[in-house]
Amino acid sequence: MTTDTTVLDGLDFTAFGRGPGLAVADDVADLLFREARTAAAFTPDEVSDERIAAVYDLVKWGPTALNTVPLRLLVVRTPEARQRLAAHMSEGNRERVLGAPVSLVLAADTGFHTHIPTLAPHMAALADALEGQPEQRESMARTNALIQAGYLIVGLRAAGLAAGPMGGMDADAIDQEFFAENGWKSLLVVNVGHVEGTGTHRARAERLGYAQASLTV
Ligand SMILES: Cc1cc2nc3c(=O)[nH]c(=O)nc-3n(C[C@H](O)[C@H](O)[C@H](O)COP(=O)(O)O)c2cc1C
Repeated sequence: MTTDTTVLDGLDFTAFGRGPGLAVADDVADLLFREARTAAAFTPDEVSDERIAAVYDLVKWGPTALNTVPLRLLVVRTPEARQRLAAHMSEGNRERVLGAPVSLVLAADTGFHTHIPTLAPHMAALADALEGQPEQRESMARTNALIQAGYLIVGLRAAGLAAGPMGGMDADAIDQEFFAENGWKSLLVVNVGHVEGTGTHRARAERLGYAQASLTV
């Protein structure tokens, strides 16, 4: 498939069941964005490690600065681990963690620079330069891992799963609880599972339109 916009502009996508301006089918756009909701309640159906790994193996191809790929995943599955995580969630989020078949703690690896010789061989010398710059590393790790978190949420939807991202948590406490040895920095918890209907009782809220969210110069 080409992503050349001059080619795409010349095609009548609606003739292929595609929305205006889209290179994917309308039902794909619905699955990923228009119909997908942030899930708060899940069915008891399990989500296998293989399925989560398959989603990661897809979304790892999304772009990050210098191809640093700093997102790390903690898969929280057992009842004991779920209790450990729930204890550090804000009150309204605790039951959501306990009620999901699996939760992912999305974290940023501030030691990402050690992989630079493999991930960005043309910039291999940067690994040594960043060794003495922990603040710069943390900033880069957080920004790029958050970008990857967005890819992951959409990737979960592409795999037919529902996601419930939650930032209401004591991130420092989660880091002490789970990442004391590897120094990862927790960013977001995402509950993952299957839903009946939309997985939420909340009505869909408006989004800002393009005219409100953009400027052209
Ligand atoms: C970064 C981030 C943090 C969020 N934190 C929470 C949270 O702490 N608790 C919660 O119930 N929902 C949380 N949400 C869910 C949002 O409120 C929800 O995605 C948004 O209202 C859109 O809902 P919709 O996808 O159903 O339209 C969070 C979502 C994101 C992306």
